[in-house]
Formats: sequence, structure tokens, C-alpha cells
Amino acid sequence: MDYSEFFSKNLPATVEMPAGLRADTAHIFSVTNAVPQAIDAELYAEAMSNALAREATSLAGYPGMKGHEGLRGLIAAELKDKRGADVDIEDIFLSDGAGGAIRKLVDAFIDAGDIVLAEEFTYSGTLNMLLSKRAEVVHVESDSDGMDPDALEAEIKRLSAGGRKPKFIYTISVYQNPSGSTLSLERRERLLEIAAEYNIPIVENESYADFRIDGAPLPPAMLGMDDNGLVIYVSSYTKLLGCGLRVGFAVAPQQVQDVLTGGMPSQLATMLVYEYLRTRKAEHVETVRRELLARRDALVSAVRENFPIECEIVPPHGGMMGWVKMPEGADTWAALEAAVEAGVKYNPGGIYRAPRDRNNHLRLTFSHNTAEEIREGVATLADVFERGGLFG
Ligand SMILES: Cc1ncc(COP(=O)(O)O)c(C=O)c1O
Repeated sequence: MDYSEFFSKNLPATVEMPAGLRADTAHIFSVTNAVPQAIDAELYAEAMSNALAREATSLAGYPGMKGHEGLRGLIAAELKDKRGADVDIEDIFLSDGAGGAIRKLVDAFIDAGDIVLAEEFTYSGTLNMLLSKRAEVVHVESDSDGMDPDALEAEIKRLSAGGRKPKFIYTISVYQNPSGSTLSLERRERLLEIAAEYNIPIVENESYADFRIDGAPLPPAMLGMDDNGLVIYVSSYTKLLGCGLRVGFAVAPQQVQDVLTGGMPSQLATMLVYEYLRTRKAEHVETVRRELLARRDALVSAVRENFPIECEIVPPHGGMMGWVKMPEGADTWAALEAAVEAGVKYNPGGIYRAPRDRNNHLRLTFSHNTAEEIREGVATLADVFERGGLFG
């Protein structure tokens, strides 16, 4: 059966991605999986059992529109305590991962030709959702302190001179994916001023806020610094507790929630997440932090030992990815196929850019493999790049 004649005329646009990312490889540097060793079957089973004992009968009905009330209460308390944001529990809704919340926002806000402002490199999942809706993603110059507010304002003025206004500013403001940078406090204040002056919402993605490894504490979330209702906030428990759980959340005013469509996480998954976080979050975060510290150090030292001096890796203070800049002209997109054949996959820089350029960068995640596996994988990758002439 050929189904093509039955498909909608409005299928999303195809977005170019390297085929190698779908391959199975021994070393996985391409995905921000949760740390597998932090998933303790006994502790998860205990939390699930306690949650079921308390509220199994709630599974009989459909969950409310916003999802598990206990978990939303816990999120509100955490946002206040850890991110400086005092949020009404009714403004919080649970989603199938941060990605589920972003999908709902993109569907509700974006028509073909709309503009979204994003960091110089931005998370490929969101970028691809935007590109598949035929949005125009304008990348704003960014550095180790995050998005540059002067460059942001210049872009807004340039667009405005042509009669165009962005739908939102999308920022991954902590341990940015892929660069690892954190938006400084001063820049947060400036971004909020600019958003207020030009009346443009900010979508703030803090999916990595629980993943501080070392270095300075995080500045507060823009969500809590905003008096004008300009910030929609997205985050997730997938990277902390398991990507397979598909539990994330967002904070948005009711007016926005009213126009959102799409799926919810399973009530069973949210029950487990609530019970586990309620009883074990601090301990779990520390276990993950210790694992990530060893793995980050292994990645950074392996890159420094195996790659030539011209290749830069800035050790990230949190999150689960190292961002590597290779010599001008190195094409990590083209080299991925050879790397996959050698048993390693990574993300070429171009997948974080609407024009698919700047492939002399690559992102190496360190959450999935152990420190030893990371050292082996980086040595293999260096070999592939050497043979492919990427080191110049
Ligand atoms: C910045 C960012 N946002 C969202 C997601 C999607 O996360 P989830 O699995 O919670 O949908 C990711 C996953 O890599 C991410 O890095």
C-alpha cells in the first residue's frame, strides 16, 4: 500500500539531519541521556509501590488538564527555593518532557514565515520543530555568558525596520545546549528589559538547572525576575530520572495554556516522579553530580590529550555536554559517517543552526558512557578525525 496520496497537504517540512545519528554505536556522545548508573531499580520500585499504595485508584479517571497536583506543588516549591521564582501552581502544567511543552508552544505560536530569535547555536530538538513549521530562526551572537543583549536588540531593530516582529526569544539560559554557557545575571536583566521594551515573550528553557557540577551557583531564573508576564518557562525531569519517563513541565499564564493542544505525560509516570523526588531528590542530584563530574573531567582531559592544541573545549560547570571548536574548515557533519563506522557518534555543530553551517564545531555528551568508555571513545574519534584530515 502506498499511503502518500492520503497524507495531509500540511505535513511538516523535512529537516535535514545526518543519517549517522540513527545508527547504533558502542560509544554515544550524541544524546543527553540520563546517567544510567543513577537509576536504582530498588529505589524506583519502592517509590512506585508507595505511590500506588497511596493513589492507585486515581488511575481510574483521566488526569486533569495540568497533571498531577502533588508534583505541581513540588515544582512550585522548588522553583521558589532553587530558582527564585514564586509561581502559582495553576500556572504550572506537566508535559511529556520539556520537548512536549515546547511542541505545544511551537504549535500554538508559530506559522510559516514567523521569526524566532535563538542563541548562536541552539538545541536541535526545538530548532527542528521550528524549521519543520517553516519558521525563520534568527541566531543571535552568544558567548560564555549566553546571548548577547546588544546583538539581540540590534536584530530586533533590524527586523522591525523591515516591519517584522519575532514571535518569541528562545533561550536555554542554564548550561546551554550545546555550548554549556549560562546566561549571566546582568544579561538576564537586559534581556527582560529588551523583551519588555519591544513586547516580545521569552521562552526560557532550564532543562539543565539540576545539573550543576561545580563553579558558581546559578543566577535566578528570568521567570522570577519578570514583573510583566513575559516569560514562559520550560523544564524537565527526563535528564535527571530517565528520558523514558517523559515527564517535564512548563509555566505559562492561563491565556497561553488555553490555546495549547497535544499530549500529557502518563499519570503513572508522574506518580513515580512525584514520590521519588519528594523523598530522594537531593540524594539523587548528588549521585548524578558525582558521576557527571568524573565523566566531564574524563571528556575534557581526553579531548586535550587526543586532539591537537587548536581544538578548544571549554570545561562546562554543569549539564552533560562538552562543546568543541575545531580548526576552520573541519567538517564534522561529513566525518560522522566514518566515526559511526568506528563505533562513535556525536552531534555536528550544524544541527544547532538553521542554515546547517559552522560544522567545525561538535557536541560530545558525557552522561551516557562511563569515564573509561569516554576515554576510549574520544581516542577513537581523534583517530577518525586525524585520518579524515579534520585536524588540518
Ligand atoms: C535544552 C533541551 N530542551 C529540551 C530537551 C528535550 O527534553 P525532554 O526529553 O524532556 O523532552 C532537551 C533534550 O536534549 C534539551 O537539551
